[in-house]
Amino acid sequence: MTRPAGGYGEAVFRPEQAGEGERIDFGALAYDDITMARLRALGVGPGWRCLDVGAGTGTVSCRLLEEAGVARVLAVDRDARFLSERPAPGLDVLEADITAPGFAPGRFGLVHARFVLMHLPERERVITALAELVAPGGVLVLSDAVDLTSDRTPGTPYTAVMRTMWQGLRATIGTDVSWVPSYPHLLRGAGLQSVAAEIHVPPLLRGSPISRFWADTWERGRAAMLATGLVDDAAVDGAVRYLDSDDCAALSAGMLTVWGWKPR
Ligand SMILES: C[S@@+](CC[C@H](N)C(=O)[O-])C[C@H]1O[C@@H](n2cnc3c(N)ncnc32)[C@H](O)[C@@H]1O
Repeated sequence: MTRPAGGYGEAVFRPEQAGEGERIDFGALAYDDITMARLRALGVGPGWRCLDVGAGTGTVSCRLLEEAGVARVLAVDRDARFLSERPAPGLDVLEADITAPGFAPGRFGLVHARFVLMHLPERERVITALAELVAPGGVLVLSDAVDLTSDRTPGTPYTAVMRTMWQGLRATIGTDVSWVPSYPHLLRGAGLQSVAAEIHVPPLLRGSPISRFWADTWERGRAAMLATGLVDDAAVDGAVRYLDSDDCAALSAGMLTVWGWKPR
């Protein structure tokens, strides 16, 4: 495989491109309730200090403060423009690359990263580094995408374009969701205990946030997808129309959430 041209936010998903914050927000709308329910079930609440890694537009960081009542959240992103737009009491913002060797912002009861690690190189090293940031008795929670297209998935425009999207993102950013199912094993290997996981697949209903998220993502990733040679413009347009039609009967990519506890 050829080496990716750049990391997240460079060739694809550039934060300065109009509408990128809205695209992230569509994803957040589809998944935030699930994320918050899991974090609260794990006991995250008043008194907790939290780290939200690759926080994007900060929806989870803000809901941790406003709904779960945690004490403070440090929201970190390689580009903090969306976080700076939404200040909130208790929210600290840090612009930093979490893969940098010196990244050590302290210890936290909760370390959370959603839809971030799948885009990064050196995943095992990053997981080990994030586990180091969890205070004794605290929890590391990672969520990333699981690709539910398989050889047996019906040959619809949606399936072809979704599959090609993963290939295009792999060639441009280095995104690789194939290793996401190994997270539980990797968290255990990083010394965390009581590791467990769950998967959520948001319903692909016409006009839903997740349908709009995929349509937006394909638009932004179109050049990367066309460069694979596996689809053309007409195929991408057809898949967008299918997603926005009553004919749509497909599976979204799922979100795997895995967590593990740091021994006291
Ligand atoms: C798909 S968005 C997810 C945003 C948010 N976690 C959510 O789920 O709504 C990925 C985020 O990770 C950030 N990111 C990617 N690589 C990063 C890195 N090396 N260091 C810090 N942030 C990074 C991006 O800038 C982007 O905001």
